[in-house]
Amino acid sequence: MTTHYQTGFGNEHASEALQGALPIGQNSPQKVPYGLYAEQLSGTAFTAPRHANRRSWLYRIRPAALHGEFAPFEQTAFHNRFDETPTPPDQMRWSPFALPDVPTDFVDGLFTMAGNGAAASQTGIGIHLYACNRSMQDRFFYDADGELLVVPQQGRLRIATEFGVLEVEPQQVALIPRGVRFKVELPDGSARGYVCENFGAPLRLPELGPIGSNCLANARDFEAPVAAYEDVTGDFELIAKFQGNLWRAPLAHSPLDIVAWHGTHVPYRYDLRRFNTIGSISYDHPDPSIFTVLTSPSDTPGTANMDFAIFPPRWLVAEHTFRPPWFHRNIASEFMGLVHGEYDAKDASAGGGFVPGGASLHNCMSGHGPDAASYAKALATDTSKPQHVVDTMAFMFETRCVIHPTRQALDAPQHQRDYQDCWQGLQKHFDPSQR
Ligand SMILES: [Fe+2]
Repeated sequence: MTTHYQTGFGNEHASEALQGALPIGQNSPQKVPYGLYAEQLSGTAFTAPRHANRRSWLYRIRPAALHGEFAPFEQTAFHNRFDETPTPPDQMRWSPFALPDVPTDFVDGLFTMAGNGAAASQTGIGIHLYACNRSMQDRFFYDADGELLVVPQQGRLRIATEFGVLEVEPQQVALIPRGVRFKVELPDGSARGYVCENFGAPLRLPELGPIGSNCLANARDFEAPVAAYEDVTGDFELIAKFQGNLWRAPLAHSPLDIVAWHGTHVPYRYDLRRFNTIGSISYDHPDPSIFTVLTSPSDTPGTANMDFAIFPPRWLVAEHTFRPPWFHRNIASEFMGLVHGEYDAKDASAGGGFVPGGASLHNCMSGHGPDAASYAKALATDTSKPQHVVDTMAFMFETRCVIHPTRQALDAPQHQRDYQDCWQGLQKHFDPSQR
């Protein structure tokens, strides 16, 4: 099938799967066309400033209230317990997790790596991996605790949401807003990737300041789905994530029954290859905030609850400059993943510890930077010549607060206990007699 999209970010989208289903001139008429129910879905406070306000009006076959009683649902690997064990200040890195060998869908295949804050306080994030080999069958999911930023690493996803269908492949991302019900199907039979569960303010485009009115992620490249409804009854279940716990309720119809909708609280996808990357054309690096795709602001101006940044293919042209990321320590904490290729601060020939599907975590004030091999290569680079970084797509979930790994992440065999070895080859070069 061909899926259609409507472009733009944060603006009012509108779509109808049946001509004339969308009421004109008012949101909640006494009688909605085609006998539909009108329902509002609010993703921000009613009184949030207009530029940040997110809400949608849904015209659906049955209202969302219609389901059975919730009972606890067991999926012990997917949770928000970020205080299970003291967080060591070590640099941490993980090898990729294998695909499951028993039938596992998207919800069953979620594995919580780390996080901070809590759904209860609407701050912080959960960081999860997913690995699955079966489409969700007779099952729908929604997350009341946060929006879900899905970063596929391997295999395409067909995400059928209440608002319509999003198709995403590696190097694209999908955003499912808080509360929106969906199911995930696997066109390639299996899939693996990363999920950021954002408890804070909805992700938005960063301000551009002196960059001007274009560049970084351009609003027109964000794609929202068009309305597509199922009029289906049957024996379904609705799985909810609510206050860190999972619940299931019986459901006698598909909740993907919205015939028309309009609003700003909408799912969308974005192709990371469309990011307009900005960098130095003279000397030195800008801070990595220049790579921000989306940001979830906190209550403190300029200080994000979470930034989603990427490190895509680009030219390095800065002269007399150490071109890989510099050695650094930040007040922010950084969880990184690699979607594709090789990351320029870690040399693949020197053990290849940071590989597609893997992850790293550098927390507040933990020193890190290029490994010894990358450092040596950078010192020998002729910086009068441009360098083309190709075949790469790394990303970072960067947060204001420390990211606490879960016990299962620390105990996993994929946790690389020898990660610090990558810096042990950094030699002393200091000679007070040679400037
Ligand atoms: Fe860093």
